[in-house]
Amino acid sequence: MITILGGGAIGLLLTAVWSRLEQIGLVVRTKRQTESIRKNGIEIVGLKKFVTHPPNVVEFGSTEMVNLLKNTRCLFVCIKSYDTQKVFTKLSRIINRIPEMVIITLQNGLGNKEIISSKIKNKVLCGIITCGATKILDNKVKFAGKGEVVVENFNKITKWLDRIKNSIIPIKVVSNITPYLWKKFIVNCVINPLAAITKLPNGELIKYPQIKQIMKLLVEEDLKVAQNEIKISRNFINQIYNVCKKTSSNINSMLQDILAKRKTEIDFLNGKILEFAKQQGYVLPVNTAIFNLVKYIEKTYAGR
Ligand SMILES: NC(=O)c1ccc[n+]([C@@H]2O[C@H](COP(=O)([O-])OP(=O)(O)OC[C@H]3O[C@@H](n4cnc5c(N)ncnc54)[C@H](OP(=O)(O)O)[C@@H]3O)[C@@H](O)[C@H]2O)c1
Repeated sequence: MITILGGGAIGLLLTAVWSRLEQIGLVVRTKRQTESIRKNGIEIVGLKKFVTHPPNVVEFGSTEMVNLLKNTRCLFVCIKSYDTQKVFTKLSRIINRIPEMVIITLQNGLGNKEIISSKIKNKVLCGIITCGATKILDNKVKFAGKGEVVVENFNKITKWLDRIKNSIIPIKVVSNITPYLWKKFIVNCVINPLAAITKLPNGELIKYPQIKQIMKLLVEEDLKVAQNEIKISRNFINQIYNVCKKTSSNINSMLQDILAKRKTEIDFLNGKILEFAKQQGYVLPVNTAIFNLVKYIEKTYAGR
């Protein structure tokens, strides 16, 4: 069994899409959402329009969840990075009793694999998802940007994912995930906070020369830190502009968080870049400014 952890934009989208080809389990946080999906299915709107009724939707912490996890060989983590520590602390006792289960984190940012591995003994793999999605209701998601899932290879992963690998969200299994992870990481460190600060959809960002200039400065700083990990071409900025064009109407996940007055994943994005830079003896003024501005916005939410 393949199970998705987290009934947000990405978790619901993957469950709905992959459920058309394979039995997929879904763990959501609340009873309300469990009941809503059991009753109405998951509705996808946007690029595709359909409804699926996944048969294994369970509430986090329930006996049903324990039984589902016992039958799970592949657990895709689709919760926010800032919830990883808390959620895997709660899951560790259960998951440590299922050593054959492989965990795949599809979360943005860096550091999630290390947090999960510090809580459980199971194999933890990194992956990325390049789709864009927005949760509209407990059981409804807008599929806003086409993309793929890329997963690190391990043992029988290819076999387990065989039936879903050619869906409308294809899965690629690769021997070296590091370049994918770092490129996505830098793209997110540039686009997400700028969209969050300006409240612009991705495509609008590149219409303003002032914002494009900040993007260039961020990329220069990020490439300095990334050079120990991967080789990235100097004109990587053009790839970032392309992502903005391809996902032009997408309200990216950090902007979604800001609009909903939720905590953002900034600590796992620009916060991580700043951590790495400190270890390497660099000072990154533009990343520092962007990081502080997002932290400031989080602090301005009423009542927090
Ligand atoms: N959205 C995108 O377009 C996109 C694209 C690429 C990558 N990503 C990355 O994918 C990850 C998920 O993003 P998202 O946009 O799907 O976030 P999201 O819509 O905020 O969804 C996260 C979900 O995790 C759920 N959750 C929290 N604790 C849980 C628990 N204990 N058990 C079960 N579910 C729990 C939350 O439930 P509640 O709502 O009930 O709290 C929420 O529904 C993030 O790392 C994000 O950066 C997102």
